[in-house]
Amino acid sequence: MAKTQDELKEMVALKALDFIPQNGILGVGSGSTVVKFIKAIQAQGIKVEAAVSSSNATTALLEEIGVKVLDPNSCEPYDVYIDGADEVNDDFEMIKGGGACLTREKILASMAKRFVCIVDKSKLVQTLGKFPLPVEVIPMAREQVARTLRTLGGNPVLREGCITDNGCEILDVHGLSITNAKELEDKINAIPGVVTVGLFAHRGADVVLYATDDGVVERTK
Ligand code: 5RP
Repeated sequence: MAKTQDELKEMVALKALDFIPQNGILGVGSGSTVVKFIKAIQAQGIKVEAAVSSSNATTALLEEIGVKVLDPNSCEPYDVYIDGADEVNDDFEMIKGGGACLTREKILASMAKRFVCIVDKSKLVQTLGKFPLPVEVIPMAREQVARTLRTLGGNPVLREGCITDNGCEILDVHGLSITNAKELEDKINAIPGVVTVGLFAHRGADVVLYATDDGVVERTK
C-alpha cells in the first residue's frame, strides 16, 4: 500500500539509527526527517555519546532528550553526519537548505568522514534545480547577490520572514536546471555577500538511504 511522505520519513529515520557510531561524536542535521530521527533515538533508547548540531532547533531537541551537544570548534573531524535533503541526484549531489540551516549543515558535513543522507523517495531527482536553490546571504548584499544570480539564469526570491541562525537572509533561486553542480557551487560561493549556497556537490553524500513503499533502500558511493 502507498505510504504517506510522513510514514516514509519515519521509516528512513528509523533505518538511520543503524549508522550511529557506538562511541564518539554524531553530526546531526536539521529538518522534519531529522526530527523523526532524534525522536527515534529517544524512543529506542539509543546512547549517543555526544553530538554536533546544525541548528538551534536541532540543538534544543537533542538537549531535550539528554544528548550532550558540543561546539564544533572543540571537536576533531568525526565519523558520521546524518541529515536530510531537498533533492538528491544519482551522483549523491544534493540541494539543501529548505529549513534555512545550510551553512551549519555544510560545516558539519565538511568535518564528517561519512555523510549519510536520509530522504523519502520523492527527493530523488535526475537533475537538481526544481526545488528552489537556497542561498544564504549577508543582508546588505542581498540585492547585489540577486542581480548576479539572475545573470546565472536563476530567479532569486527573498524568503520572507526568514532570518537564519547566523542572522542572515535566504534567497531561494527558482528556474535553475543544474547540469554541473560543482561548477555552479563554485560560482555562487564566489559572489561577494554569499555566506553559503545550498548545493552540496563538492561534499555530497557518501550513503543515501531512501524510503519507498516497499522499504528503505541503501545506496553507497
Ligand atoms: C534544512 C535541510 C533539510 O535537510 C531539508 O530541507 C529536508 O528537510 P525535510 O527533512 O523536512 O524534508 O536542508 O536546512
